[in-house]
Amino acid sequence: MKTLTTISELRAEIAQHRLQGQSIGLVPTMGYLHAGHASLIERAAAECDLVITTVFVNPLQFAATEDLSSYPRDAPGDSRTAEAAGADLLFLPGLQEMYPLGREGVLTSVSVNELSAVMEGESRPTHFAGMCTVVAKLFNIAGPCTAYFGKKDFQQLAIVQAMVRDLSFDVELVGCEICREPDGLAMSSRNVYLSAEQRAAAPVLALALVAAARALSRGETSVDRLRATMMDVMSTQTMGQVEYLEVVDPITLRPLTQADARSRFLGAVRFGSVRLIDNLDLSDLDRDSNLAMSQ
Ligand code: PAJ
Repeated sequence: MKTLTTISELRAEIAQHRLQGQSIGLVPTMGYLHAGHASLIERAAAECDLVITTVFVNPLQFAATEDLSSYPRDAPGDSRTAEAAGADLLFLPGLQEMYPLGREGVLTSVSVNELSAVMEGESRPTHFAGMCTVVAKLFNIAGPCTAYFGKKDFQQLAIVQAMVRDLSFDVELVGCEICREPDGLAMSSRNVYLSAEQRAAAPVLALALVAAARALSRGETSVDRLRATMMDVMSTQTMGQVEYLEVVDPITLRPLTQADARSRFLGAVRFGSVRLIDNLDLSDLDRDSNLAMSQ
């Protein structure tokens, strides 16, 4: 695996491979790679000739009050994980390379309306525009490619899908399933900041989503009652503060009053200063054995 730090080197490298007719797979990340990220790289390696993993902690998507400076970083570990998962190129640009005039010097913003205002957008109003801006930049640098995103950030995936459609990026998006710990907790770079007590309580979010999805599978379609089911599970512990628990259409992300088999269950919970998100749909109950803990 080659590590590159400049946009021009990366472009030149990709151009060579494209000349040979190779397909390009792109896996954008903010690093501190875990098995969830690795699963995206492995899928890209199985489907593409040249796999590029990017690691850049994008300041545009963090609000002033958020965890940019404390966001976990581990370049040597990321390099090992990316290589073991099958990446051919690791793009590791510095802030100066991505934003030569600094964060304040970035005057362009790509925002996807409506989808960015709900759920995560309610408590993080500038997050998705910052995320879309860097993803658009990475798509421009990589050129035509297949890009792999995790369903862990389901709203992010829906927003990037809308951006690709609206702006005609020559990018095929692949949504990858969520990797979980054996107790159901969705893997996340932020999990390292949970105390032992918080870590023990954290699977409650997945449990709440599973309980509601199971209720739906038994025929309960009222979203009011499904939300009450989720709240009941959440109230079994006192450490996590619920930010939202929603049942939405998977494409428009609009809240539903009646759920059906396509509906997506999403939630955000705060454990102290650590904010965890998770989501699932009916199909995950059968597919993911790490969700069997509560069944
Ligand atoms: P980051 O949080 O590092 O996530 C990078 C990719 O890994 C995202 O597509 C995310 O959904 C996926 N991912 C994270 N945890 C996962 C898990 N447990 N299972 C499966 N996939 C998982 O998302 C971002 O970075 C940034 O917003 C980015 C798109 C890179 C733009 O800065």
